[in-house]
Amino acid sequence: MRKLILLLPLILFINCKQKPATPTGQVAEKAMVVSAREEASQLAVDIMKKGGNAFDAMVATELSLVVAYPFAGSVGGGGFMVYRKNNGEVGGIDYREKAPLAAHKDMYLDSLGNVIPGLSTSGGTAVGVPGTVAGVLEVHKKFGKLPLKDIIEPIIALANKGVVVTEKQANRLERTRERFIEANGDSTKFAGPFVTGDTIKYLAYANTLQKIMEEGRDGFYKGEVAQKLAAYVQENGGLITTEDLEKYEAVWRDPIVFDYKDLKIISMSPPSSGGVTINQMFKMMEPYNMSKFGHNSTKTIQLFTEASRRAYADRNFYLGDPDFVDIPYDMLLDDNYLQERMASFSFDKATLSSDVSHGEVEIIESAQTTHYSIVDSEGNAISATSTLNGGYGSKLYCAELGFFLNNEMDDFSSKPGVPNMFGLIGAEANSIEPEKRMLSSMTPTIVEKDGKLYMVVGTPGGSTIITAVAQTILNVHEFNLSMQEAVNAPRFHHQWLPDMVIFEPEGFSEELKAELKSKGYIINEERTPIIGKVDAIRVLPNGKLEGGADKRGDDTAVGY
Ligand code: GLY
Repeated sequence: MRKLILLLPLILFINCKQKPATPTGQVAEKAMVVSAREEASQLAVDIMKKGGNAFDAMVATELSLVVAYPFAGSVGGGGFMVYRKNNGEVGGIDYREKAPLAAHKDMYLDSLGNVIPGLSTSGGTAVGVPGTVAGVLEVHKKFGKLPLKDIIEPIIALANKGVVVTEKQANRLERTRERFIEANGDSTKFAGPFVTGDTIKYLAYANTLQKIMEEGRDGFYKGEVAQKLAAYVQENGGLITTEDLEKYEAVWRDPIVFDYKDLKIISMSPPSSGGVTINQMFKMMEPYNMSKFGHNSTKTIQLFTEASRRAYADRNFYLGDPDFVDIPYDMLLDDNYLQERMASFSFDKATLSSDVSHGEVEIIESAQTTHYSIVDSEGNAISATSTLNGGYGSKLYCAELGFFLNNEMDDFSSKPGVPNMFGLIGAEANSIEPEKRMLSSMTPTIVEKDGKLYMVVGTPGGSTIITAVAQTILNVHEFNLSMQEAVNAPRFHHQWLPDMVIFEPEGFSEELKAELKSKGYIINEERTPIIGKVDAIRVLPNGKLEGGADKRGDDTAVGY
């Protein structure tokens, strides 16, 4: 009894729930949008102020990012969205690009069976059938409140007025200038040069939007726009026909839903690998008291790295388009299987990736994409990630229609077992087939706590998307950071192969790296890239919303 009394303060301390972190990001009373540019966040918030819901705001954000953030704004590309309605109902939509009907497994190989460099990344051959317009219109049809006209008219106005070039954007445009000219000739609108403060207008895109506003999906996938789009891709050596466009459909898919401690995590299912991979990682980490290890401590980095190593090995081998490939979910997401995968883990010594099964495949994807998070005043939440794949996609800018075209075909395995130009060595599950969707890492995610909406989170970053999303959730849940602190916090990444930990340039000491090295971790000292640009929202205990807009970009939270 005496012992129990002595232990009582400790028991109370352990059981006592920590007070949630004080917000340090933008706080809003009712509704919020966090996206890559203020113009898109503001436009979408205005739609909600006019009576629109989160689904209307999604349409507004997605279509306005095409002008506000042409680097990744994806009317010529595709994406994924996960939602949670205020009644707890969850779902997801896949508007990922598809391989054209004329595509085939060996389309990027020469007569000797070698990959022809550049074919899957540049020019018309790299372009997958775009899905974004079908995706947003499907969302609007199912859940929208406002007429499409009320949502699209302000975007047309923005496109006509133009968007001011930020310093970061000017740098990106300058870096890509030669590639724009190579792809489109020197009279292209993007031949520049551009400086900070210039305004770029998108008059042709305004006309395309007008068609979509008047005719719905037929305004894009049939008739004049479809004919121009198919002709343009074909002129540039690609395969997309008007039939490909007419046949494109977005697909509603059940998200991946799993528990982690007292959280419920809802994330995108295949053909995105994001949900399955973070599910595996969280379940492998769950038995450990990570908060005790400390934020970005040696032990936390070890545990996270070893879970990532094992999950990415499975990701690269088993995942692909579920309409074409049987994915062994029962095995991959089984608790016993995942605990067995961690049986070889020890804090004393790094596991070698070569000792983790399915060592034949490697992934390095391009890191440009965009993410936005939305919560409306009714409590509906949207987490959406979309992309052109590379920055400005294939670099092909269709001047008649006013947008860039994706180079998403590169996310397929051009030749299973052989690296593409980003070093990606894919597996059979992700080989090219007509009308198949290429595997993605996009991880739009929503988190519930105690049955209530808690966080909306996602990021660009290619294969680093999955680890950046997972770290952001852990930063809030295990380390009690505010949403903005969690987004700003330095990130690291491991993806099984190459067997290296990548750290961001700031925030990881030489001592910490030396300790990891002494345990056998290989650290990529040459590569210290920015990892992700997370845009997230946390619901505070008083019901207000805290935005986390990544300081790494021009990302902005706007709310009311
Ligand atoms: N293209 C990046 C991704 O889909 O993950």
